[in-house]
Amino acid sequence: MSTSTADTTPTPAAANTSKRGVSGRASAVVGLQWGDEGKGKLVDLLARDADAVVRYNGGANAGHSVVVKGERYALHLLPSSVLHKNTHAIIGNGVVIDPFKLIEEIDGLANRNVKIENLRISDRAHLVLPYHKLEDAALENRLAGSQGAIGTTKRGIGPAYADKARRTTAMRVDDLRSDDRIREAVHRIAPIKTDMLRGIDPTSEAIDPERLTAVLISAAQRLRPLMSDTTFLLHNMLRTGKHILFEGANATLLDVDHGTYPFVTSSNCSVLGIPAGTGVPGHMIGPPAGEIVGVAKAYCTRVGAGPFPTELDNEIGNAIRTQGNEFGTTTGRPRRCGWLDLVALKYTVMINGVSALAITLLDVLRNTNGHLGTLRVCTGYDNSAGACTSFPPSAHSLVKCAPCYEELPGFDADITGARSITDLPAEARAYLDCIEQFVGVPIRYVSVGPDREQTIMIGKT
Ligand code: IMP
Repeated sequence: MSTSTADTTPTPAAANTSKRGVSGRASAVVGLQWGDEGKGKLVDLLARDADAVVRYNGGANAGHSVVVKGERYALHLLPSSVLHKNTHAIIGNGVVIDPFKLIEEIDGLANRNVKIENLRISDRAHLVLPYHKLEDAALENRLAGSQGAIGTTKRGIGPAYADKARRTTAMRVDDLRSDDRIREAVHRIAPIKTDMLRGIDPTSEAIDPERLTAVLISAAQRLRPLMSDTTFLLHNMLRTGKHILFEGANATLLDVDHGTYPFVTSSNCSVLGIPAGTGVPGHMIGPPAGEIVGVAKAYCTRVGAGPFPTELDNEIGNAIRTQGNEFGTTTGRPRRCGWLDLVALKYTVMINGVSALAITLLDVLRNTNGHLGTLRVCTGYDNSAGACTSFPPSAHSLVKCAPCYEELPGFDADITGARSITDLPAEARAYLDCIEQFVGVPIRYVSVGPDREQTIMIGKT
């Protein structure tokens, strides 16, 4: 992502000149594991310094929790910056938007006295409609118990992106601009989607185009004032010196091209999705003017199916799940828990060109009941071909990998009050050092609790 090859670190002003006349800067926050790394908190923290926070991928399958003054806000479609009055919240063209969910989320915040004034949604973004969710669920149900089931969130993400690629059965936000366009598109597409649904589950009910048209027209009336050509909006911001923060949803190991395919989501969750998902070219994102912050838990979790070499299907995994409250924000499903996989982390750091690491949930690894007295990190895999230290290209090869571990001493102290690296016990610091050395990128943030304040900033003033 970076265009810098110089030995000396340029000043922000000098760096900006190298970005072809653009005086603004763009940073990104991206998940480095299988999701739920605590990106929302990082975005919320960094959004204070940003003029806009932009979602570029995924849809309501994401679940971002932000805790402010003890109050938890669970967001699915809205960028985490909606809680910051003076920051634009932008949903880019790469996101698949469930219009009804979006309105529900906006209304939910309004009921808690959070008024959203700065939200803009791309008119190029695609829509997730009720039949996408039915198709998602029907396919998962049909495959249940087989090796093909992915364990999706059933939010219609895969079917909506499939329609986007197919084109003839897709609807975009722009189609909501007029009632006539909505009516025409729904009446054209609904019978085809009914046939497709019945191809998966012959008992599926027919989609009622009249009813869908009516509810979409009323949703469109709410959303029209928010629709915008966000591509031009973002380029104008960058030209006028603004700071844009891109917020990745889901995470790199779920990236449709670079994750553990086929057990992935249907979008490019890594920073590689930003150019296509927003219209901002890659050379304008990240260092030297901005940052690419990669977020990883101090351990690993995964929801849904798919290989997970360091999974702990035992009392240690249970201890992590209980201490970390590892249950899905979107679906409530218990998350699979395991040791930190440094091989996978090094790979996702590389894919994203991460310039700063954020390690979250370090406090969860506190040894409260004897299960976490010794911590393990995976530093290699063993498979039929022998030892390997590179991340394999598919789920089928990853499933054959057995983890090789390094052991480190655990820590007994409560670290939720730590605000500087020196407040941490030596064992916790050694754990962080081990991560940093293995992946070769500095740790800039350590999260020791859910609240904004429970964050250690390293090398930041
Ligand atoms: P989908 O995105 O609903 O199609 O789900 C595909 C896979 O990605 C499933 O295993 C989901 O559990 C997983 N997934 C999707 N979004 C997230 C997320 O935000 N956090 C964790 N897992 C996710």
